Amino acid sequence: MSHYYYRPSLLATKIFFQHFFLKKMQFFEPYTHFSAIYDQSMQTVAYEKWADYIISMYNSRKSGYPKRILDLGCGTGRLGREIFRLMKARQVQISYVGVDASEGMLEVASRSTKGNDSFTWHHSRMEDFPASREFDLVISTHTTINYLSDLSPFFSKSKSCLIRGGVLFFDFTSKENILRNFHDKEFEESLGDEIMVWKTRFEKARNLIHVELNFHDTKTDELLGTEYHLQYFHEPNEIKRHLARFGFSKIELGGDYKKNPISKKVDMHHYFAIK
Ligand SMILES: C[S@@+](CC[C@H](N)C(=O)[O-])C[C@H]1O[C@@H](n2cnc3c(N)ncnc32)[C@H](O)[C@@H]1O
Repeated sequence: MSHYYYRPSLLATKIFFQHFFLKKMQFFEPYTHFSAIYDQSMQTVAYEKWADYIISMYNSRKSGYPKRILDLGCGTGRLGREIFRLMKARQVQISYVGVDASEGMLEVASRSTKGNDSFTWHHSRMEDFPASREFDLVISTHTTINYLSDLSPFFSKSKSCLIRGGVLFFDFTSKENILRNFHDKEFEESLGDEIMVWKTRFEKARNLIHVELNFHDTKTDELLGTEYHLQYFHEPNEIKRHLARFGFSKIELGGDYKKNPISKKVDMHHYFAIK
């Protein structure tokens, strides 16, 4: 499987050579190793609330519920499962298509929804997913758009997959959040048999977010391998320009999956827009 959306930077190359030649350690493609422990690591993420927020917002603006949903960069499909539960409680039958570039993430998604034919998982970069104008709602969450160096394919794909009047919902982490909580910081998470050490550096001049994940064996502390994730911070003005360029209207911007106005305190920005 190709992962050419993760373009190596000079820093990535340096880290790679340092680790590979000096420490003889193993490098994994993003989400090949992390996928197995992703849900455990994200246990405290409020997917249930996110699902409720997105569906309530859709319902209040569209006076109805989305029946066909497309999730671009769906990961392990946790948000999809929450949306399904919510809609089932309201006796609404949905079909949910998740697209992701990582086979590992999709394996978890498909295992967790086995036997449920509301879900279809599609292994592809979102840019290459064959567009068909059939979806009521397109979502892309947990700052997935940061993996794209150029946002045009994301907006163009969303537009061509939505029916007229369909809704695009996506989020991304604020620059303040990156600087406040992640830049030059290291976190350690104990995840069963493994300890994950997570380091982030924000390169302000180029708006690049360098994330290094090191996986250690809990018992021996042996380093099992590293994933390097290169992400791109996109300025809110750039996002607004794209939305306008691709013909989205009634654009609403909020913070942290609440009706919060955007301020420096907000950790996540989210957009709701209608085609
Ligand atoms: C931070 S995870 C978020 C997953 C999920 N949306 C969630 O809310 O938990 C980012 C996901 O985007 C996927 N991804 C990154 N670039 C992608 C691309 N170009 N096309 C499709 N998926 C991509 C990764 O494989 C990963 O599963």
